[in-house]
Parts: sequence; structure tokens; C-alpha cells
Amino acid sequence: MNKPLVKPARQLLVIGAGYTGLRLARAAHQRGLAVRLTSRRPRQGECADQDLGWFQFDSASEPALVPAAEALAGITDVLVTVPPGQGRAEPSLELLGPLLRQLPLQWLGYLSTTGVYGDTGGTWVDETAPPAPRAGRSQARLAAEQAWLASGLPVQIFRLPAIYGPGRSPFASLRAGQSRLIHKPGQVFSRVHVDDVVGCLLHCLALPSGRRPTVLNVTDDCPCPSSETLGYAAHLLGHKLPLVEHYAAIEASMGAMARSFWSENRRTSNQLLRTTLGYVLRYPSYREGYRACLAEELAGGQSLRSAGSAT
Ligand SMILES: NC(=O)c1ccc[n+]([C@@H]2O[C@H](COP(=O)([O-])OP(=O)(O)OC[C@H]3O[C@@H](n4cnc5c(N)ncnc54)[C@H](OP(=O)(O)O)[C@@H]3O)[C@@H](O)[C@H]2O)c1
Repeated sequence: MNKPLVKPARQLLVIGAGYTGLRLARAAHQRGLAVRLTSRRPRQGECADQDLGWFQFDSASEPALVPAAEALAGITDVLVTVPPGQGRAEPSLELLGPLLRQLPLQWLGYLSTTGVYGDTGGTWVDETAPPAPRAGRSQARLAAEQAWLASGLPVQIFRLPAIYGPGRSPFASLRAGQSRLIHKPGQVFSRVHVDDVVGCLLHCLALPSGRRPTVLNVTDDCPCPSSETLGYAAHLLGHKLPLVEHYAAIEASMGAMARSFWSENRRTSNQLLRTTLGYVLRYPSYREGYRACLAEELAGGQSLRSAGSAT
């Protein structure tokens, strides 16, 4: 672990150190940034993360748990990963906004979802498209984006498709016989490896503020059917695939969340990230990404064993 020789100029606060937040925190810490994180439960001194400063933040507890102003002193950069609350507009902003506005913030990243684009019928969508969320959770997400953008803080919105990575890959469910091979003609999904989310966040954090787009899609180059990705995962494992199920035949038996997931079909563009910002994807498609996930999972690496909510 690299330790800074002098007090680093940039100090990062990760609000919500779950799967992506903790992976970013560790990567930033390895690069010498001082990092503080929040969780809903006490975690200071836990496992290998002795050097990280943990604070409790829970917007949904009664009363809400909010860190003291002194705990955030010196923070220059913030990542918010907490999803929108139910009922209140954007609890994280409501509760932490007054503290954050007192800090000399250079950057505040907010993790959102490509669900705000709604259904495009499988065509490409980029950041210039007007959001058209259909699902209630995506409408809440758009409202949260808008609240952060109106906050007066130096906000950058990152719109993410499905995040996969070690501990969040198809391998465990394939081995357990719990995967479903579903075919819906024309249907594709976009996805991104967690380390490309982390890489993109660090890339943007290092950019001058004038070069940061306000809204940025973070996705790989390869939207494709889930049957294709599952087939490749099975090939890597040398495991047989489940029988194909036709979406039309099983739709009525699916839960509301799964149906809403399958009701949207879009290809999310990463041109702004790759071409304009010059970010080079570590995992341009699920093929490189799954190979790396499997290697890390088989190695039983430290990052996987303590990957927070991902395990
Ligand atoms: N996973 C995906 O495929 C995907 C796709 C698109 C967008 N996103 C969005 O991207 C963000 C990061 O995703 P992720 O998969 O890394 O999320 P995650 O692992 O579920 O982490 C979410 C974090 O938010 C914290 N949190 C949740 N409710 C909270 C509350 N009421 N008060 C305070 N903290 C709270 C959790 O705290 P604890 O650490 O205490 O659990 C956790 O640290 C999320 O907003 C997610 O909705 C995810």
C-alpha cells in the first residue's frame, strides 16, 4: 500500500462504501489519496482496511446517522453511491448537503443509472438524449440527479449500466445451477466492469474541472444479449448451460422487477468517455472482463473476500 509522504492535497470521501465505493476507495488509497468512507454499520478497523477512515451514515435510520462536521474536515472530493431513498427527494443530499457546502470541494461524483434513458427499442443512446425514465426507481433516480445538479456543488453525474466484477459475476449461479438462459428476440443489455467504473472515476477526478462533462455514461463497448454473456461464462467454466427459455413464455411468471428490467432495451454509448475524454477501457467487453473476474475469484483474492456487499 503506497503511503503519501506528505499530507495529500486531495482527500476523498466515499459516501456509501458498498461494492463500487469500496473498490474506488482502495484504488484511490493505493494512489496515495487520503480516503474516508461511510457505511450504515460501524466498520473502523475491519479486515485489511485499517488505513481507511470509516464513519457511519444512515439516511433511513430513525434518527438518521450523520457524521459530525469535524469528521469531514479537509475533504476535497466526494463520491456518492447511495441510491435514492423512498419517499424523501434525495436523503443523502438533504442530510449531508449543509456539511458538504462548507468544504472546499473540487469534485462530487454521483453514481446514477442508464435506466434514466428508459426504453430506446435497442437503438444507441448518448448523454445528449433527453431522459425518459419509465420505471418508478428510474424516475426517482432522475429526480436525485436533478437535486444534486441544483445543489450548487461541483457535481458530475455518472450513468451506469449493470455493474459486474469479482463476486458479482455469473460464475457462482452457473455452478449452483441457478442461471436462466432467456431468449428475447432483439433484446440487449449494456454492462461495465467495476474496475472501469473505478478507472473512469479516478480519470475524471484528475481532470481539470472545465474538461469534465456534467453527465457521463460509463459502459463497455459491447451491448449484447444476456444469453451471449452467459454462454461465454459457461464456456470459461467448462460448465453446461441451462435449457433456453423463451421470454414470451415465462414473462407472466416473472417478478415485477425482472419484468421491468427486460422491458427496456437500449445500447448505451461510451463515445464521450472514450473519444472525448480519452479513457481507455480495461475491459472493452464481457470477454476480457469475465476472464479477469474468474481469475480473481479463483485466486480468492483479498479484494474479493472483503468486497463488502458484493460477496
Ligand atoms: N449494481 C449495479 O448493477 C448498478 C447499476 C447501475 C447503477 N447502480 C447504482 O450505482 C451505485 C453503486 O452501486 P453498487 O452496486 O456499488 O451499490 P452497493 O454495493 O449496494 O452500495 C451502495 C452503498 O450505499 C449505502 N447505502 C444504501 N442505503 C443507504 C442509506 N439509507 N443511508 C446511507 N447509506 C446507504 C450502502 O451502505 P452499506 O455499506 O452500509 O450497505 C452501500 O455502501 C448505486 O447507487 C446503484 O444503485 C448500480
